[in-house]
Amino acid sequence: EQVYRDGVSGRRPRVPTSAAELERRGRRAMSRRADAYVGGGAGAEATMRANRAAFDRWETVPRVLRDVGTRDHSVDLFGRRHEHPLLLAPIGALDLVRRDADLEVARGAAAAGVPMIVSNQAGAAMESLAGVGRRWFQLYWSTSDELVDSFLARAEASGCEAVVVTLDTTMLGWRPRDLDLGHLPFSRGLGIAQYTSDPVFARLARERAAAPRSGPAPRVTPAAVRTLLEISRHHPGRALDNLRSPVPRAAVETFLDVYSRPQLSWDDIATLRSRTALPVVLKGVLHPDDARRAVDAGVDAVLVSNHGGRQVDHAVAALDALPGVVEAVADRMPVLLDSGVRTGGDVALALALGARAVCLGRPFTWGLALAGAAGVAQVVSDVLAELDLTVGLAGVRSAAELEVRRRY
Ligand code: FNR
Repeated sequence: EQVYRDGVSGRRPRVPTSAAELERRGRRAMSRRADAYVGGGAGAEATMRANRAAFDRWETVPRVLRDVGTRDHSVDLFGRRHEHPLLLAPIGALDLVRRDADLEVARGAAAAGVPMIVSNQAGAAMESLAGVGRRWFQLYWSTSDELVDSFLARAEASGCEAVVVTLDTTMLGWRPRDLDLGHLPFSRGLGIAQYTSDPVFARLARERAAAPRSGPAPRVTPAAVRTLLEISRHHPGRALDNLRSPVPRAAVETFLDVYSRPQLSWDDIATLRSRTALPVVLKGVLHPDDARRAVDAGVDAVLVSNHGGRQVDHAVAALDALPGVVEAVADRMPVLLDSGVRTGGDVALALALGARAVCLGRPFTWGLALAGAAGVAQVVSDVLAELDLTVGLAGVRSAAELEVRRRY
């Protein structure tokens, strides 16, 4: 209601309300590099387009005169109540977009009343966001199990409510827009704050620095080392304390060593239960059989996602994969969704198709680029306001009650 009141009172919104305009202006507010990184997808970006097109394939038939005076969008996730069925998707290397980006996002999310999923590739150590609203932690499973355990322990200690293990990025996707700019944020030292603030990582880097070198040295540019040092300065008292000279070069090399684990398998997932007490969400599940395996593996939820079309071009659109996963899971755990969600109407459709909650991705980065924390908060509030109106005007009290069918 507040959003609507502000709108009709002639107060100019800090960021555009229209999703298309938000994207246009948000992208313009970013550097070319940042826009290529955030806006780009894998290959010819067919999956990125498919994610959006999928939402247009569904329709609902609104009902009338059904007393929708009170609506309730709250959901239960792992025994905890969430007022809104929305979270912020984990997005790494946001320092490309704005200084102190992760803190701004955390503040914006907290102001709007939704949890932030802190990325494994965030530009801020997870501890530095503790106390700023509700948070989950997203994990990329490292080649070092010890580092995985350290990240999980830190997530617990810093108050994260769940851990999201991203399965679709055991290697970075083929992203032509980034490649054409000669740009991989992580090799430049962006988005590695979880590592440079970690004691296990510091030890691995020290060991690497001390070890005699065999074979060709990994390709680490001087620019990468400089950026790492710069980033470390943003986190006083942590990174460089752990990583004494001449370790920074080794730190970048160590990051490259430990980041990616293409060998990851269901056997690793089976060990998670003994590694953490936190609820575990598997992100990047698209196939019903994988969803069934997730249930068997004893995890707590799956997040249907194709990483915003950034990993496998021509992968199925997330919304198209959702009904099959929901059916396979058959109420045995919550199913979440991201990839292509732009409006409150999109959130309503995903919830009607069986998602318990939805993650918002790129749109909040455009709000961040335009107005920092306030921009993030406004983008989220607008989505929530539209969700509420869509549900009420369609004659139901929550999106799960919407009847939807395929338009074609
Ligand atoms: C991502 N995503 C992502 N996912 C993840 O698990 N860890 C990460 O660090 C990142 N980093 C990241 C960076 C950028 C720039 C983007 C756009 C996305 C994927 C993200 O969590 C989510 O799945 C997608 O953003 C959903 O697609 P849309 O809705 O943003 O298009």
